[in-house]
Amino acid sequence: MFNNLQIMYAIINDKSKYLFEPPEYYPLNISTEGRQLKQLFGKDVLVRYGNVGDEWLWHLHMKVNDVCNAKCPFCIESENPIIKYDEDKYLKMAEKVLNEQYNAGILFSTSITGGEPLLFGKLDELLTITDKFNLFLTINTNGHYIKKNINVLNRHKIDFLNISMHSHIPSENNAVMGIKPLSIDELSWIKSNFNGLIRIQCVMMKGGVDTYDKMLEFMNYYKDIAYDFSFRNLIGVNESISESINKFTNEHRIDFRSILDEVYQNGELVVQEIQDYYIYETWNLNGFSTTFSYSNMDILLKSESIEDVHISREFILHPDSVYSSSWDKNNKLKIIYKQP
Ligand SMILES: C[S@@+](CC[C@H](N)C(=O)[O-])C[C@H]1O[C@@H](n2cnc3c(N)ncnc32)[C@H](O)[C@@H]1O
Ligand code: SF4
Repeated sequence: MFNNLQIMYAIINDKSKYLFEPPEYYPLNISTEGRQLKQLFGKDVLVRYGNVGDEWLWHLHMKVNDVCNAKCPFCIESENPIIKYDEDKYLKMAEKVLNEQYNAGILFSTSITGGEPLLFGKLDELLTITDKFNLFLTINTNGHYIKKNINVLNRHKIDFLNISMHSHIPSENNAVMGIKPLSIDELSWIKSNFNGLIRIQCVMMKGGVDTYDKMLEFMNYYKDIAYDFSFRNLIGVNESISESINKFTNEHRIDFRSILDEVYQNGELVVQEIQDYYIYETWNLNGFSTTFSYSNMDILLKSESIEDVHISREFILHPDSVYSSSWDKNNKLKIIYKQP
């Protein structure tokens, strides 16, 4: 039906215009059309035109480390060797990068992620830097070190703590993450003591939240904790990168489309946002704002291998302080911190 679809960036608010096709059916978008030229660190980048508020267009991902206390079998971080990066260098680079994006007019939001970002030793200092930019800020965390860091977190402007939970049944969540899940009492304590909002985020997979009804049970279980919910599909990695993650993700991936079809029947569409290789859609479901995201990494890899290198979809500050406009830091814009 969408064979001729050329929309690789679209924002759809009207349910009658909702696109059912997954991104694998979209043609590759390697065109520079619809992009504006900006300069970052004196280098050209081509970014989408957007409006202030286009969270994902003008977003900086700060990946502060790649160490973690958990062992999720679908996550590349669980296989990383433990490398101690230079955190002072990271802080200096973070400030430079935020300034560059701000001055180029392409900074709306940022997220702090990892590894487990609450294991980053200089979180207080990093948040002092982000405060200066008054950004929409989220932190992705497995939740285990929130209580210990609550005073640090509350000293700063943090909009959301996105806490990852992959099942409301403790034994299932434990089996996935390899750590004891936060109990409702612990989460209630966080909710009462944290100044920002809590999003419960879940990767849907077999043996966890794997059906629409189980998703509703999950939401019901966390209803007094979560301000909103976010569900995403398992992303696979190439066998050459990790055989075990490749195997786990292939064996545990669910039929996400069929869940979205039930969401379509029962929910009110807030927005469906399509950006090249991923779809991000927000629904009002049972009174909760609920976001679903799914991506096609093959499309991204293929596009990145053939398109103009200046095309930039996202900006990432990697744990070794390399700033890049690709998750593959050897692709696209690559800026290495230089001592002044
Ligand atoms: C890499 S983690 C880092 C932050 C933190 N440790 C956490 O788990 O929230 C960020 C998010 O990516 C998700 N994630 C990791 N590997 C994934 C995969 N293969 N597919 C989909 N989501 C994945 C995690 O579940 C988590 O919600
Ligand atoms: S908690 Fe986050 S970083 Fe840690 S292994 Fe799980 S997904 Fe990866």
